Amino acid sequence: MQTEYIKITDPEAQKNDLARAAEIIRRGGLAVFPTETVYGLGGDATDASAAKKIYAAKGRPSDNPLIIHVANPEDAERYALPNDTYYRLAKAFMPGPLTVILPKRDNIPREVTGGLDTVAVRCPSHPVARALIALAGVPIAAPSANLSGKPSPTSASHVVEDLDGRVDMILDGGDCEIGLESTIVKLDGDKLTLLRPGGITYDALCMVCEQVTVADAVTRQLAADERPLSPGMKYRHYAPSAPLVLLSGPANRVLAFLQEQQQAVNCAILCYDEECAHLQKNNLFAVGARDDVATQAKRLFAALREADATDAEIIYAHLPPTDGLGLALYNRMIRAAAHTVKTID
Ligand code: TXA
Ligand code: MG
Repeated sequence: MQTEYIKITDPEAQKNDLARAAEIIRRGGLAVFPTETVYGLGGDATDASAAKKIYAAKGRPSDNPLIIHVANPEDAERYALPNDTYYRLAKAFMPGPLTVILPKRDNIPREVTGGLDTVAVRCPSHPVARALIALAGVPIAAPSANLSGKPSPTSASHVVEDLDGRVDMILDGGDCEIGLESTIVKLDGDKLTLLRPGGITYDALCMVCEQVTVADAVTRQLAADERPLSPGMKYRHYAPSAPLVLLSGPANRVLAFLQEQQQAVNCAILCYDEECAHLQKNNLFAVGARDDVATQAKRLFAALREADATDAEIIYAHLPPTDGLGLALYNRMIRAAAHTVKTID
């Protein structure tokens, strides 16, 4: 398949390009589009055969359900059964990086929901994503636009790396602002379970809902026989080809350890900006200032791709904090590291 690649710098002025992408989706094809979190691999969410194409293009198991993207929060009603809590969340956080699991209506095929009777609904804030969904006139089912097992794509070059020749169109809208996938919550009346942390933090959710529980699998490794609340939690999302080890301990001790390791082994390092001057440049990837978790989140997936492309035998990175946006970063990093943490004292 020939993949058409279009740069979108001005969604208003490029209505025709967006209309062509929308047409591809309406006709059952696949178009990749930018969102504020990561790029999405989009197809018509009301079309079972489009869902099958999405799974095939990604090489993803078809029991791992897809998120459906709507142009406006209230459009959820057409495809799902939202309750009052959904509307409170929508008022506070939509459009934006929040996905809510709701009971589904019959117009969403089970191929999209991996056989579940619930559906994940998200209203993204990225202007290209919103314009595309509105023009398509159908909800867009879209997982992250990476090959299964690779980090989610935060720039169009990552998408080209993974999906060139496997989709009809790629819309390049530049780098994604947040860089980590959306926060996912499940509702049980007014009780809320956080299934995947993201740009909408635990504290932000607590401002809107009284009872917020963090699912075990967010921070902990599930045992082989445990059933996760979200099918996606059971998959070992992304594993770099060299083992990733997360370091924890006093800043000066961790830096000394990294300096020693650069002498002793062929390693790649995801470091803080402040550490760059104290480490050798080879296979060194700065992810942002120590206190700037937002930049670290934005750069994480690109840095992991870059570290993975080196010939390093081992990759080191810092263990992130678990407060605020740190929890989302922590969740992605401990999974990429298969929960390997080295404490240095
Ligand atoms: O930011 C995002 O959410 C991006 C952009 C493209 O919107 N999308 C994304 O999709 O990350 P994906 O497919 O890579 O991750 C969706 C996660 C999966 O772990 C899946 O298991 C979970 O959502 N999920 C989807 N539907 C669900 C449902 N009905 N119940 C529980 N979990 C569900
Ligand atoms: Mg994904």
